[in-house]
Amino acid sequence: MLRKAIALAALGLAFLGSPALAAHPKPVERDVAWSFDGPFGKFDTAQLQRGYKVYREVCAACHSMHLLSFRNLGEKGGPFYDPEYPNSNDNPYVKSLAKDIQVPDIDQDTGDAITRPAMPADRFPSPFPNEPAARASNGGALPPDLSVIAKGREGGPNYIYSLMTGYRDAPAGLTLSPGQHYNVSMNGDLTSAWKGDHHKVPPGGVVAMPPPLAAGKVTFDDGSPSTVEQQAKDVSAFLYWAAEPKMMERKQFGLGAMIYLLFFTVLLYFSYRRIWKNVAH
Ligand code: HEC
Repeated sequence: MLRKAIALAALGLAFLGSPALAAHPKPVERDVAWSFDGPFGKFDTAQLQRGYKVYREVCAACHSMHLLSFRNLGEKGGPFYDPEYPNSNDNPYVKSLAKDIQVPDIDQDTGDAITRPAMPADRFPSPFPNEPAARASNGGALPPDLSVIAKGREGGPNYIYSLMTGYRDAPAGLTLSPGQHYNVSMNGDLTSAWKGDHHKVPPGGVVAMPPPLAAGKVTFDDGSPSTVEQQAKDVSAFLYWAAEPKMMERKQFGLGAMIYLLFFTVLLYFSYRRIWKNVAH
């Protein structure tokens, strides 16, 4: 007992004395209660619709989502699924959403590069023709493709939500280079940029993306208030759906498999009892 206590105390002291822990706090991650959490979780269709609008009207100015086609929006589990149109290429709402967006193409007669209204089968177009152009417009930084970012970053949709709502004025003592923004949820280590008390390095990091969201920036068709919180939640849910469009089917399949296995466990148990009933042991 005493030995254990001493060992624990020693361990605690070792941790307290460690300068690494004092110097570099973890970025702030805020947890959201998502409709798609847990084994019975489902996507909230209205939320995905709002999230698409945020992506389209705000994020798409800088970020591509090259793995997504417009028709994906009308597939089962997606934001604009309509059971009347099991083939989402025929979904009139998806068609009209696509038609509003111009995509690059080649004129079949002249071979010239042209743009034309998108069709459901088209992929989401990229906002920039190539990487150098994307960097040139963003002070040298490259806006990453958002197709699978909700799975590619630790924390997933919680991380994206936190990043969207994590912009703060840089604390006095933090020197930022031009075009950099302080964000409490960005991964990073501010130790070298921090001129204040070295035990109080601020959490988070710097990011080249200017704060993308602002109150009232998007008008939601369902009348939801257009706060930064709401926009951030909805776009994070949308990006999670984009990265995991088959999540609901996967969960339902998993649940079915569990019930099946449970049934066989019970069956096995009773057949075991029956087979060994008259055997002395
Ligand atoms: C004005 C252009 C611009 C807009 C608009 C914009 N971003 Fe960005 N975004 C960037 C740039 C540039 C980066 C790269 C930042 C860096 O490397 O420091 C970035 C990075 C990101 C990252 C990755 C952060 C990381 O962990 O590395 C995410 C996630 C992101 N943006 C999401 C969004 C979302 C969601 C929206 C829409 C609500 C959005 N962005 C709107 C320019 C933009």
